[in-house]
Amino acid sequence: MCGIVAYFGKKEAQPILIEGLRRLEYRGYDSAGVALLKDGAFDLYKISGRIANLEGIVPEPSSPATVGIGHTRWATHGKPTTPNAHPHIDCTGKIAVVHNGIIENYAILKKWLIQEGCTFKSETDTEVVANLIGYFYEKNLSRDGQNTPQRNNRFEWAVQQALNEIHGTYGLAILCLDCPDIMIGVKNGSPLILGVGENEFIIASDTSAIIEHTSQAVYLSDGEMVCIRKDGFTTKTITDKEVQKELKEIEISLDQIELEGFDHYMQKEIAEQPQVLETCLNGRVDVKNGRVVLGGIQDQLRDLTRTKRVILAACGTAWHAGLVGEFLFEQLARIPAEVEYASEFRYRNPVIDEGALFIAISQSGETADTLAAVEQAKERGATVLGVVNVVGSTIARTTDAGVYLRVGPEIGVASTKAFTAQVAVLTMLAIELGRRRHLSADIAQALLKELTEIPKKVEHILTQNEQIKQIAQANIDKDNWLFLGRGLNYPVALEGALKLKEISYIHAEGLPAAEMKHGPIALITDEMPTVFIATQCSQYEKIIGNIEEVRARGGKTIVVATEGDEHIKQYADHLITVPDTVEQLQPLLTVVPLQMLAYHAAVLRGHDVDKPRNLAKSVTVE
Ligand code: F6R
Repeated sequence: MCGIVAYFGKKEAQPILIEGLRRLEYRGYDSAGVALLKDGAFDLYKISGRIANLEGIVPEPSSPATVGIGHTRWATHGKPTTPNAHPHIDCTGKIAVVHNGIIENYAILKKWLIQEGCTFKSETDTEVVANLIGYFYEKNLSRDGQNTPQRNNRFEWAVQQALNEIHGTYGLAILCLDCPDIMIGVKNGSPLILGVGENEFIIASDTSAIIEHTSQAVYLSDGEMVCIRKDGFTTKTITDKEVQKELKEIEISLDQIELEGFDHYMQKEIAEQPQVLETCLNGRVDVKNGRVVLGGIQDQLRDLTRTKRVILAACGTAWHAGLVGEFLFEQLARIPAEVEYASEFRYRNPVIDEGALFIAISQSGETADTLAAVEQAKERGATVLGVVNVVGSTIARTTDAGVYLRVGPEIGVASTKAFTAQVAVLTMLAIELGRRRHLSADIAQALLKELTEIPKKVEHILTQNEQIKQIAQANIDKDNWLFLGRGLNYPVALEGALKLKEISYIHAEGLPAAEMKHGPIALITDEMPTVFIATQCSQYEKIIGNIEEVRARGGKTIVVATEGDEHIKQYADHLITVPDTVEQLQPLLTVVPLQMLAYHAAVLRGHDVDKPRNLAKSVTVE
């Protein structure tokens, strides 16, 4: 949801900014720009479209400027045009800003600024921020006329005055022409990290734009700003109170964010699943004693044994993982559980009883709706845990405690390895809570033993790549698909449909298989492939019945079944198999061929798999 990067140091800023934007492009990719500060002027380059377009308009050879800010956009206010691309420069020409987030009261501020004589060139909320800072900087007096800046920090003061007026979310990097020796970064509700190198500083939306230059970083909290000068940096709150921040080691490495021979990040991330699941389980599963050790929440677990209700909240793919979690908490721990769309939950004035356990699931740890639900659950007294991938992300820091996914950076916009790890973590949590209540050691041991076999089994599924590609090819001209599953494979049907629609732009719907006959069966023709997840499970006979209903109406079927199931072959126009496992763990396997199917469909249709249209990786706006 927009990526920002800013450089302040001794090297040429331009190539560092362009490379940083390339790394952040998954966050938004409808327009991009850089502003370079050189010889008392801003050199501004911006353009609609991808970073590749920006590379075509920046100077060659590179500008000698050693300070600059850059942005890759996912449009919220105003179309993805060149005038709306960031950076935005205020009407005095002195202040340049890049912004990730939303300024909620921008319209009223814009009206006031226009009355005060400011002019605007774009439709964005961000230009209001630039003009507001410019206004206070020029006027040199606060809005109530009570406050004037100290002589040597007028720029910093003007930023604080402007932020006083703003409601909304922002990660900002700001430059001022009169102060070429200062760069300011501010965070509130959008991620912002300061990379600290030798005589150089990089502000960025995430560590992938920093790691090439330094492994030391400061993670700003909401309401904090950093002021970078040649001799170092200071951190304070927006309200001008000094804060001491710790330098932390960035945990990702450069090779984790490279393609390493794969054509796409999504392809790489699907293939990484055996290894990342291994890492996710490592040291956490104690098969011998039928127990799970989750370091991040060990202290909370003791109290959680008495939990009366589990509320899971998430969005999109993470919500589908939460639905698997809901089933498992009920089945294994016998605790009433419900997964909520975070976006709906927060506006519903939900009843959260004392002692409820609230679990937020998020790959990025920055999803605005999930974060808002977390804040609400905390206010209402729930114990709030996070199941998050990005270390140090806002949700990870806002929750009371949590469990990291440990899958490394997920860069492909379509989430794959994070889903399987989210399911694995929720499975471990459900088993451990079950064990602390009434789940027998024998059952827990058997489940955990089987859980440790999952990475190998996923590896085996990946060997069917060519066959799955052919199935995608055989159905590539079909514009509507159905995905059906029952029980724990129903969330997988939802996830299979979401994967297909978001990257191949094929309309797809996921449903509980038994719901078909209540309406959607009217859609069935031989032009509509139906994907059934029909593995050996308690509802096997029932789903065979559902397959027959579809075939009786001329429907074509793609069936995901258990290896060695000869009986099912007669029901499948196309068959994909997964190794046998216990019913509770089947989603960890059955989702993998559906990820592969969606991947191949998107490639065959010629789409940009890693950057599907209209989407962005982390949704930091409501
Ligand atoms: C789909 C996808 C999205 C995310 C959703 C939540 O492939 O990636 O549906 O799952 O936006 O994102 P996180 O998990 O970062 O909170």
